[in-house]
Amino acid sequence: MEHKQLDQFPKDFLWGSASAAYQVEGAWQEDGKGVSVWDEFVRIPGKTFKGTNGDVAVDHYHRYKEDVALMKEQGLKAYRFSVAWTRIFPNGRGEINQAGLQFYIDLVDELIANQIEPVLTLYHWDLPQALQDEYQGWESRKIVADFTNYAQVLFEALRGKVKYWVSLNEQNIFISHGYLMASHPPAVSDPKRMYQANHYANLANAAVIKKFHDMDMPGKIGPSFAYSPNYPLDSDPQNVLAAEDSEDLNAHFWMDVYLFGKYPIAALKLLKEQGVAPIIEPEDDELLAAGKPDFLGINYYQTNTVVFNPLDGVGLGRMNTTGEKGSSEESGLPGVFKRVENPFVERTNWDWEIDPEGLRIGLRRITSRYRIPVLITENGLGEYDKLTEAKEIHDDYRIDYLKGHIHAIREAITDGVDVLGYCTWSYTDLLSWLNGYQKRYGFVYVAQDENQEGSLNRYKKDSFYWYQKVIQNNGNTI
Ligand code: NOJ
Repeated sequence: MEHKQLDQFPKDFLWGSASAAYQVEGAWQEDGKGVSVWDEFVRIPGKTFKGTNGDVAVDHYHRYKEDVALMKEQGLKAYRFSVAWTRIFPNGRGEINQAGLQFYIDLVDELIANQIEPVLTLYHWDLPQALQDEYQGWESRKIVADFTNYAQVLFEALRGKVKYWVSLNEQNIFISHGYLMASHPPAVSDPKRMYQANHYANLANAAVIKKFHDMDMPGKIGPSFAYSPNYPLDSDPQNVLAAEDSEDLNAHFWMDVYLFGKYPIAALKLLKEQGVAPIIEPEDDELLAAGKPDFLGINYYQTNTVVFNPLDGVGLGRMNTTGEKGSSEESGLPGVFKRVENPFVERTNWDWEIDPEGLRIGLRRITSRYRIPVLITENGLGEYDKLTEAKEIHDDYRIDYLKGHIHAIREAITDGVDVLGYCTWSYTDLLSWLNGYQKRYGFVYVAQDENQEGSLNRYKKDSFYWYQKVIQNNGNTI
C-alpha cells in the first residue's frame, strides 16, 4: 500500500512496544513466585496448542538486560510490560515477596537508565490461583480490596519512576473468554456469572484508579480496552441498526463504565430482560464515578462487520481480537446481529482482517464520545515468521501492516484525536496464549520451537530496523 508523506507527530510521542508477564517472563516458580490461573490452566490437557505453557516463555526474567539493550539499540521511547501479581503476592495478598518486587524495580531502573519510558500494566490476566480457589477471583467483591492493595504496593515502590500505568488489560477479553467462551481460565460458560464478574472488574478498575489519584501519584493511569469498531455490511437500515447495536453492546457497554461511570441504559435493560444483569449495590455508582481514567488504552487489531440477524445473533461480550484462528460467534444472549466477513479488506494468515482505516475510525469515535487522550497500547501482526539460514527474518508483511496503522494514527491526530503514543504488539516474539510460538508478533525473533526447545537466542527482524528509522524520524518518513 502506498502512503503519502506524513506531517510530524507530536515531539514527545511515545514510540513504544509491548509485552505481558506470562507471555515473556518464564521463571514461573522462581524467587518465591506463586501460581497463577494461567499456570494451572495450561496444564489441563488440550487447552493450548501442543500443551505449550509459559514456564520458560522467552526467558525475559533472566534476559531482561539483553532485551532492554535491544530496545535501546532500536531507539524505543516506551516499553509496556505487565507485572505478575503472583511475584508480588504469591497468594494474592498477605506478605510482600520482596524478591519478586525487586525484579520490577530493576527492570524499571534499567529502562530509565536507557531513556525508555516504562508503561506498566497492573493486570494482564495472570490472577493468583490462590484467590481463584479462595473466593472465585473476579466473581467476588473481595477482589476489589485485594487488587487495590496489590496496586498500592507498586504505586509506592515505583512512584515517580513509572509515569504511565495501565489498570486492567482487555477486561472485555478476559471476562468474555473466561466466563462465556470458556477458552481462558476459569473456563466458565455462564452469562450471569460473566456479568457479575465483569461488574467486580469494573469496581476493581475504578478503585485502583481512585487510589492512584488519592495518592497523588505523578503520571497517568487508564485501562486498555480491546476495541473493534463495528461496521454495517451495507446501507440496509436493518444492518446499520445492527452495527449500532453491536457498537453499543461490544464497545460502549465497557468503555462507558470507564469514562462515564455508568452502563448504557439499553444494555442494562437487555441484561435484565435476559435475567443476567449483575447485582449492583447503591454505593457502586459512587465508586465507578470516582475512578475516572486519565487516558484510555486501546488495543486495536481489526474491525467487526455485522448484519442484522434476529435469530442467531451475538450478545454482549463476544470478542474478536485475541481468539485463535476460527474463533467465532459465541453468545451469552440472543442478539440482533452477527459477524460477517468484510469483503473490502484483506486478511492475515491467521484470518484476522487488516484494516488500518478502522483504527482511525475508532480513534475518532472515542474522541467524539469521551474526549479523552488515547494511548495505543497494542497493535500488530501475528504471522508465521521464518528464520533464514543467515539468521535473518524478512517480515516485509509486518512492515506494511505497521506502516498502514501508523499512517492512520497520523491522520487521526490531524482529525483532532489526542494520541499519546503507539505500542506495537509485541517487542520480542512471545508465547501466544493458546497458540504457542507459531504465531509471532515481535520485532525481535526468539528461537523457540513448537516443542519449546529453542535456544531462545534473539535475532533482529527487518521490521526492527524499519521501526528504528520510524522512531529516528518521529514517524515522518514512512
Ligand atoms: C491482546 C492481548 O493483550 C495480548 O496478550 C495478546 O497476545 C494479543 N492481543 C494478541 O492476540
